[in-house]
Amino acid sequence: MAAPGTHNVMLLFVFFGALSCAMAIKCWDCRSDSDPKCADPFDNSTVPITDCRTLGSLDHLPGVRPTMCRKIRQKVNGEWRYFRSCAYMGEPGIQGDERFCLMRTGTYNIFMEYCTCNSKDGCNSASSIKGSLLIGLISTCLWGFVHFVGF
Ligand SMILES: *[C@@H]1O[C@H](CO)[C@@H](O)[C@H](O)[C@H]1NC(C)=O
Repeated sequence: MAAPGTHNVMLLFVFFGALSCAMAIKCWDCRSDSDPKCADPFDNSTVPITDCRTLGSLDHLPGVRPTMCRKIRQKVNGEWRYFRSCAYMGEPGIQGDERFCLMRTGTYNIFMEYCTCNSKDGCNSASSIKGSLLIGLISTCLWGFVHFVGF
């Protein structure tokens, strides 16, 4: 008979094994206001790629590790801004379909597109996402979510 606790220790290993596997992704990490090559069309020649496993959790999300890449495209006052980085929360794409991004059109001339992916290293390089979805109803929700996750 197994000693008490052996089963739990095994479960723990399985859990962390699965976790570290899920976290083994690398993402482009840049923002176009400091590096114009971060914009579309994406130029990966000087942009750093970050192993998301090396990032810690955020102060306001203790214990949550980045498992995906994200790309944010924002138009503020007529000016496009791009952000690429590891992503901490949510699912890749829309219901798992990475071709789709969340979009929000807001007041004050703001447009935002939020894409997540985990299909391969550097997947947040994609410069054209086909058939983005416009999801007005949950957009307000998303806005809060993005602020929560932070840039
Ligand atoms: C950078 O882009 C080039 C051209 O698109 C591609 O062949 C190469 O694999 C990319 N590098 C990485 C590390 O993804």
